[in-house]
Amino acid sequence: MKTLIKNIDILTMDEKLGQIQGGCILIEDDEIVFAGSEADLGEGADYDKIEDGRGMLAIPGLVNTHTHTAMSLFRGYANDLPLMKWLEELIWPAEDRLEEADAYWLSLLAIAEMIRGGVTAFADMYMFMEQTAQAVLDSGVRGVLARGLQGPDGKSHNRLEENRILWENWHGEGDDRIQVMVGPHAVYTCGPSYLEEVGDLARKLGTGIHIHLSETRQEVDNCIKEYGKSPVRHLYDLGLLDGHILAAHCVHLSSEDLDILRDKDVRIAHCPASNLKLGSGIAPVREMLDRGITVSLGTDGAASNNNLSIIKEMALAALISKGAEEDATLVPASIALEMATSYGARALGLEDTIGSLSPGKKADIVLVDTHKPHYQPRGDWATHLVYSGHSGDVDSVWVNGRKLMEKKELLTIDLDRIYSEVENIYNKVMGTGNG
Ligand code: NI
Repeated sequence: MKTLIKNIDILTMDEKLGQIQGGCILIEDDEIVFAGSEADLGEGADYDKIEDGRGMLAIPGLVNTHTHTAMSLFRGYANDLPLMKWLEELIWPAEDRLEEADAYWLSLLAIAEMIRGGVTAFADMYMFMEQTAQAVLDSGVRGVLARGLQGPDGKSHNRLEENRILWENWHGEGDDRIQVMVGPHAVYTCGPSYLEEVGDLARKLGTGIHIHLSETRQEVDNCIKEYGKSPVRHLYDLGLLDGHILAAHCVHLSSEDLDILRDKDVRIAHCPASNLKLGSGIAPVREMLDRGITVSLGTDGAASNNNLSIIKEMALAALISKGAEEDATLVPASIALEMATSYGARALGLEDTIGSLSPGKKADIVLVDTHKPHYQPRGDWATHLVYSGHSGDVDSVWVNGRKLMEKKELLTIDLDRIYSEVENIYNKVMGTGNG
């Protein structure tokens, strides 16, 4: 099956192709086979279906490299608190009332929100991840999933085993849309011996590790008090940074930490909205980019954001670095867009698969409706998208060549069903106890 999307402007995020005015994209099955001008496509090109994209801007599917989809239940719950108080007093007790089957609907709610905002791939770390995997499979989106791990305690070996089984059941499923990593929560919830076991499992499975790292000053201070070193150095000494590491936050870093992250090619999920909302601080993005560290963008869960918009994170990533460093040249729109696309793909280890609209890559494509006042006058699409855009501008979305949204209508997800299921779950989890 060949589909031609024509009459579109294109931000390819491909170094050679650049920005294309009035071009077209040809999809064959799950792959992009051409992106460029119609003249270059040639008259002999054949296709089964034409989509007229007039007034649309095509961009690669956006990548959300750190979230907890099932936490969509806690949107609007426990606001305006610092991280530890928020976790210990409100989020963790409420999580104890969640049941496994709930996670399917909560994950679908988050996935629906992400697709509507042009996010086609995300990294998730949480419990009940088999349910999230099913939601990824059913919705058609792309997910890199990890079972959140804490320990040692009475259940920590079960959690490791669940992560292993998750990998066995789901890694490569959905035509490779689903990948599985190992998900140690953080250095303050995982002891050193447990982290070593986590590292062993990741090596055995040949997969990466997704972890929260140096999110708050308190995390760093406590780690220094307990182990005499920073969380980054602590992980380094435990041999945990040797493979593919996706580290969320990385707000409080010494220059030694930054050098370690560069030397070990750790990929960062920068989560500006969550860091601002929880009062955690502002990550040293300039220092990371200067060292050539891969910085991608994550929303974190809906409880600490409160939405899952990567378009919003792009704007924040650009704006807060400028303000914090008193330097307007920092994180230009073009780099913010790289963070949301090609760097995001690299953060997930999917740089050969997604992240740009290049021939040979999977057809994860987003059409943004630019026929709106805030995109006029038509001009530099990267700055328009980053500084003026919002999630509601997304019109159509393809993942792996399959259309998941058409003219703002989700094709694989029944929103009314999700709303009613989520309301039942909300009443069950929040309606009793002290929530
Ligand atoms: Ni998180």
